[in-house]
Amino acid sequence: MEFEFILVEKEVAPYVALIRLNRPKELNALNLGLMLELKAAFAALDEDDTVRAIVLTGNDRAFAAGADIKQMAGKGAIDMLKIDQFSTWDAIRKTKKPIVAAVSGFALGGGCELVMHCDMIIASDTAKFGQPEINIGVMPGAGGTQRLTKAVGKALAMEMVLTGKFISAEEAAAAGLINRVVPEALYLEEAIKLAADIATRSPIAVQLAKESVLKAFDSHLQEGLYFERKNFYMLFATEDQKEGMNAFVEKRKAEFKGK
Ligand code: HXC
Repeated sequence: MEFEFILVEKEVAPYVALIRLNRPKELNALNLGLMLELKAAFAALDEDDTVRAIVLTGNDRAFAAGADIKQMAGKGAIDMLKIDQFSTWDAIRKTKKPIVAAVSGFALGGGCELVMHCDMIIASDTAKFGQPEINIGVMPGAGGTQRLTKAVGKALAMEMVLTGKFISAEEAAAAGLINRVVPEALYLEEAIKLAADIATRSPIAVQLAKESVLKAFDSHLQEGLYFERKNFYMLFATEDQKEGMNAFVEKRKAEFKGK
C-alpha cells in the first residue's frame, strides 16, 4: 500500500501490520489527507486475512501533535460542517481488528483522541498526553471530552480539557488512560509483542470480544451485558471454540483457523 502521509508494513510479526504516521516535520499533525489515508489503510487491513492485529505509531518525538492547525485556521463553522471529517474518524473506530497504539512524545489534541480510538496503548516514558485545544480557542472535537472522561474520570479530564495541561506517561498509566509505560527504546517492540500475542488467538473470538468490550464502554451496562452474552453464545458456533477448549483439555497448543 502506497500513501503520502503514512507508511504501512505487513508481517512485522506473524499476522501483525504496522501503520506509521509519517509527517515528521509537522510532528505528525493530522491533516485531512492523512486521515483519509488512515481510514483507507484500516479498511484494507480489516479485510486482509493475513492481518489479525494492527499497531499504530508515530515516531519517537511525536505520535501526533493534533489536527493540522494550519489547515483549520482559516475555516468557518460551515466549512467545518461540510468537510465532515468526523465521518472519517467514525470509520476508523469501526475497525474490527484490535489496534494497539505505540506512543512516544506528543499525543495532543486530535493525536490524543486518535490514541483513544485505539484499543490498547503502550507508551514510551517520554510520552505526553493532552487536550490543549482550549489554548487555541476551541475544544476537543474527535471524542476527547467523552473518551478521556470515561478513561480517567471527570476531575482529571476536566482539568486537562479546561487548562490544556499535559500529563506524563506515568500519570496516564496511573489514571487508566494507557496500558503501560516502557523505556523509549522499547515502546514499539512492546506494542508489536502485544499485538502478536493477540494474533495467536482466534480472530473471530478476538473480533467479537473487542466489539463487546467497546459496547461496555459505549453503552449502558445492561445493554452491554446482553450484547456480550449474544456474542459469547455465537462463538460456540465456531470451530475455533472447539479447537481452543479441546486443546486446553488435551494440554496442547491450539491451532486457530478463523473458522
Ligand atoms: C500544524 C503543527 C502542529 C499542529 C506542530 N506543528 N503541531 N502544525 N498543526 N497541530 C508544526 C509546527 O508549526 C512546526 O512547524 C513543527 O510542527 C514543529 O513544532 P514546534 O512547535 O516548532 O515544536 P516544539 O517547540 O517542540 O513544540 C511542540 C508542541 C507544539 C508543544 C507540540 O508544536 C504545539 O503546541 N503544537 C500544537 C498542539 C495543539 O494545540 N494541538 C491541538 C490542535 S487542535 P514549522 O513549520 O513552524 O517548523 C486539534 C483539534 C482536533 O487537534 C479536533 C478534531 C480533529
